[in-house]
Amino acid sequence: MGLLIDGGTGGAAQLRAVTSTSDGDAVPPGPPIYRVETDRKLVALTFDDGPNGATTDAILGILERKGVDATFYVTGSQATGQRSRLRRMHREGHVIGNHSWSHASLTGLSDDGVRSELQRTSRLIRRVVGDRPTTFRPPYGARSDRVDRIARELGMRDVLWDVDTVDWQRPGADAIRRTAVRNARAGSIILMHDGGGDRSQTVDALGPTIRGLRRRGYEFVTVPELVAAARRG
Ligand code: NI
Repeated sequence: MGLLIDGGTGGAAQLRAVTSTSDGDAVPPGPPIYRVETDRKLVALTFDDGPNGATTDAILGILERKGVDATFYVTGSQATGQRSRLRRMHREGHVIGNHSWSHASLTGLSDDGVRSELQRTSRLIRRVVGDRPTTFRPPYGARSDRVDRIARELGMRDVLWDVDTVDWQRPGADAIRRTAVRNARAGSIILMHDGGGDRSQTVDALGPTIRGLRRRGYEFVTVPELVAAARRG
């Protein structure tokens, strides 16, 4: 990947991190991604703010039974005490993305603050599962060109969403399912949460959401797979 921009301090460590990606999870540099242009009926389910104990386990169990690969945007502060959950995500074919260390609003931090939030989390993920993340999702969707540039220096692309289930407001499992199924299009990135509060409605909605989308002809892929499908046209 020719995208490394040496941020000054830690250049050698960054270089090692950036060049060590070994699998097909790499996402090439570019502008933030909200949805991907594709004619194929592919969607990506994404889960933010975990890992979150039994809730994440329940979501992983449903995804496993349904044969669905998803993308988890984890915070480092949550992940550090739940390394076995990170390993399970990775082992079962899911992709782990970076959602900062402390769920800070990154646009309000200094360059060093942003770098620290992202780098700490990427290092943890890499230490635990062996692959560093190649995408990040800014907490609260609070992005800026500056934040994106710093993330790019760390080898990550900004991934937002085009379908917001608003599951964190707990509108009921049926409303979560309906929002996801009605608003999904080819190439959609669907936002859900396994952490950040009581997510039992999300757990209840997940199976019916998967069924509903499959009934409409959609297949589930990870974010890197979705991006790769767009590149192939
Ligand atoms: Ni979040």
